[in-house]
Amino acid sequence: MVNIRATSERLEELRKLREKSTLGGGQTRIDQQHARGKLTARERIAVLMDENTFQELDPFVTHRATDLGLADKQFLGDAVVIGYGKVNGRTTFVFSQDFTVLGGSVSEVVGEKICKVMDLAAKNGAPIVGLNDSGGARIQEGVTSLAGYGEIILRNTLFSGVVPQISVIMGPAAGGAVYSPSLTDFIFMVNGIGQMYITGPDVIKAATGEEVTHEELGGWLTHFTKTGVAHFASEGEEECLKQVRRLLTFLPQNNGDDPPVFASPDDAGRIDPELREIVPEDPNKSYDMKELIQHIVDAGDFMEVQEGYARNIIVGYARMNGKTVGIVAQQPAYLAGVLDIEASTKAARFVRFCDAFNIPLVTLVDVPGFLPGSDQEYGGIIRHGAKLLYAYAEATVPKVSVLIRKAYGGAYIVMSSKHLRGDINFAWPSAEIAVMGPDAAVNVIFRDEIKQSENQEQTREKLSAEYHDRFANPYIAASRGYIDDVIDPAETRPRIISALAMLENKRETLPPKKHGNIPL
Ligand code: HXC
Repeated sequence: MVNIRATSERLEELRKLREKSTLGGGQTRIDQQHARGKLTARERIAVLMDENTFQELDPFVTHRATDLGLADKQFLGDAVVIGYGKVNGRTTFVFSQDFTVLGGSVSEVVGEKICKVMDLAAKNGAPIVGLNDSGGARIQEGVTSLAGYGEIILRNTLFSGVVPQISVIMGPAAGGAVYSPSLTDFIFMVNGIGQMYITGPDVIKAATGEEVTHEELGGWLTHFTKTGVAHFASEGEEECLKQVRRLLTFLPQNNGDDPPVFASPDDAGRIDPELREIVPEDPNKSYDMKELIQHIVDAGDFMEVQEGYARNIIVGYARMNGKTVGIVAQQPAYLAGVLDIEASTKAARFVRFCDAFNIPLVTLVDVPGFLPGSDQEYGGIIRHGAKLLYAYAEATVPKVSVLIRKAYGGAYIVMSSKHLRGDINFAWPSAEIAVMGPDAAVNVIFRDEIKQSENQEQTREKLSAEYHDRFANPYIAASRGYIDDVIDPAETRPRIISALAMLENKRETLPPKKHGNIPL
């Protein structure tokens, strides 16, 4: 006879199973996680998502492995929590690796769960946030766990430019496991908690004898300042997840969508006379471009990306009249704002993200050129600098630039110039456009004259001053239409806002192709 179970009994069973699943690797492991100053996978999701919006999927999935003692190590949901919910009221998908279950290692079914939620994100056009805290591929499962990683990496690539992909490193990310985050659009790291490296300190010591700590090798400071792998670094997990929420306010849900529009807290027509005072009259003196940006954007609110890396170029998000813009600007206060390998690749990736996701670009130019030197040449500045040229030339989103001061040589061309399909190019009266700086120029074109003169230094100075007077202004470029207008610095904000409004329905396409071949 069939044993008919009461509904209450079935519900009790469900409650118990869910409770078990929610406990992941169990209370002791949860306590260990807390003792390390870390939140659990579910606690992290609760901080990331709007209150009570998270809907979990696959809480009862278990692994199928039996080798190496895994048969009796079963955990409901295995080592990842997946699902969807709202962030700032907008649908967002998430996976959160659970370190309390077998060190968050990626098994075959963990791979399947992550792929499921990634597929849902892409199909439904919403961002996917990955909270990473894992010992990597589950060693006991061998090739099936590697297959899981491969499937994730495939999706990272296929969905690149389709939905925003964000990785948060909240624990170890070792070996090939770093490659899924590195294919995503933004990496956040938590100070003292997240670590990323291809080979750990022990392997390095065995292979080369070099001694290095986990933190030195792959901690937040390394990736935020040295490698550029981390776009954001935060003190503490809660602060980090708050920053993820903030970033999402600037981004569209997908590549067919526009970024959200907010009521502007700032007057679109605001004239700002202080902008006339920021740039020193002496072209060799520096100033802080971030101050200038804050004067231009809505309420001075600017979210900088990769703040600690290649500080000679600034990239980040702000709003102008309530609408997201991607800002690219030189920082004259650091290495005179020169373009080098790191600055070129940093800005190129930023420009391409903005272009993929319909975010207009506002470029503020003050660049003395590409950095000379054998270090740069041997490092491949030709190839890396070309990335930025490619990114700007390829971008079809609205492109507005303001030439603040210097724009010399190839660096003039690269920074959103008219020749690379810049839409509206403004210049301040302080702008200087030339093939190179005055001293370098006269050394080339008046070499013999300088050599033959009685007082070489005086002659060089005189010629340099003449060259500066002739070229150190925006009017030659403006006479050609390369600069659309020379503007009073105080009017910069309203002029950019009206240009962006005019460009709102811009349509521009690329020639049909499978894809281009950016110099990687
Ligand atoms: C299975 C793992 C595991 C893994 C950790 N665990 N990593 N189980 N597969 N990859 C288990 C541990 O055995 C332990 O279980 C529990 O998780 C917690 O780990 P601990 O070592 O106690 O924690 P901790 O001291 O904090 O060290 C964390 C760690 C370390 C640094 C991540 O566990 C570690 O080095 N793991 C191996 C990392 C690694 O080499 N992974 C492979 C990378 S290659 P018990 O039950 O004993 O407590 C890779 C290829 C992907 O991932 C390719 C993609 C392209």
